[in-house]
Amino acid sequence: MNVPKPQFSAPSWLTDAHAAAADRVRRLATTHGAAYLHATEAGRYPLDLAWWWTSGFWPGLLNLLTKEDTDPRLAALALQAENGLTALLDHDWFEELHHDVGFQFQPTAVMRHKLTSAPDARRRGLVAAHLLMGRFNVAGGVIEAWNGEAKRGHSIIDTLMNLPLLFWATETSGEPRFANLARAHLASAITEFIRDDDTTHHVVVFDQMTGDRVEALGGQGAAPDSAWSRGMAWAIYGLAIAARYTGDPAYRTRSRAVADRFLALNDPHGVPPWDFRAPDAATAPRDSSAGAAAACGLLELADLGDPAAHGQALALVETLTERCAMPASGDGLLAHATGKLPQGQFIDVSLIYGDYYYFEALQRFAGLKETCW
Ligand code: GLY
Repeated sequence: MNVPKPQFSAPSWLTDAHAAAADRVRRLATTHGAAYLHATEAGRYPLDLAWWWTSGFWPGLLNLLTKEDTDPRLAALALQAENGLTALLDHDWFEELHHDVGFQFQPTAVMRHKLTSAPDARRRGLVAAHLLMGRFNVAGGVIEAWNGEAKRGHSIIDTLMNLPLLFWATETSGEPRFANLARAHLASAITEFIRDDDTTHHVVVFDQMTGDRVEALGGQGAAPDSAWSRGMAWAIYGLAIAARYTGDPAYRTRSRAVADRFLALNDPHGVPPWDFRAPDAATAPRDSSAGAAAACGLLELADLGDPAAHGQALALVETLTERCAMPASGDGLLAHATGKLPQGQFIDVSLIYGDYYYFEALQRFAGLKETCW
């Protein structure tokens, strides 16, 4: 084990939680190997397809663990899964890939490049960045999220967490065009997705020819004007990362504003409900993945000098640890996550991205600050 000395005096529950999470990832590596995971069924992670947007997170968890565990099998399994993902780029159906090439290639190729400087990892990340860039529609000034007739002109808040792929591409290539395009998307997203009360829309539809805003949709939230908790978490973290890459304090200010609203709405709940404005928010299914991603966003804000953020992240992670972590009869690191409640899918389960952000937060508290984002 090669865990650096924590930069603050970590409470024992936190070091215990970190050790338990690392053990759980090791156990999953033994039971699942080089796989693509998404949501548990009856506590167990079934195998999923490389095409699904979450396919980068399990190899990403393996990559995170390599920062503190030198077992060479971890990196080998992560690379095997990354190779399967890379095959999609050369597949006849490559046009089915969408904006989530960020979620797929940042925890895999980009992370491996950050950790090893491997040239093939850099190439894979750059190919994914070019694909993401190609989704930008000048009319509307947004990256379009998905493919197919029914999703034309749909842009979603989640894209803010795919933009780090573009910022990284500029950093590694020296070509400003990637970051400039990310900033163009951010300008539109800040105006069109973040409401005056600092809650966020999930989906906004734009006319693909005129760029006119057509409508906001509820998407995975309860309603067009609701407050889908994971969407707000994507905004908190994505904006904070944009501030880190660009040095633009406006992104930090907007991230802080959404974080303040997230924390205020969450105050009575502990573990966030799947939507803060669900009619039954007090008793509705929780979404621990929203809490984990928001905690990582707060830790990013803390690294940018935000004085309150570290303590706020710690409180969130403590709640997740007490109420959700290491379900005894399950594979996941966090129970009580909710994927797509309006669609009736992935309710009160473990979600691999919730597990990923929980472990990332624990590592950040331990001073392992290099993330894939
Ligand atoms: N990116 C889809 C989700 O957050 O569920």
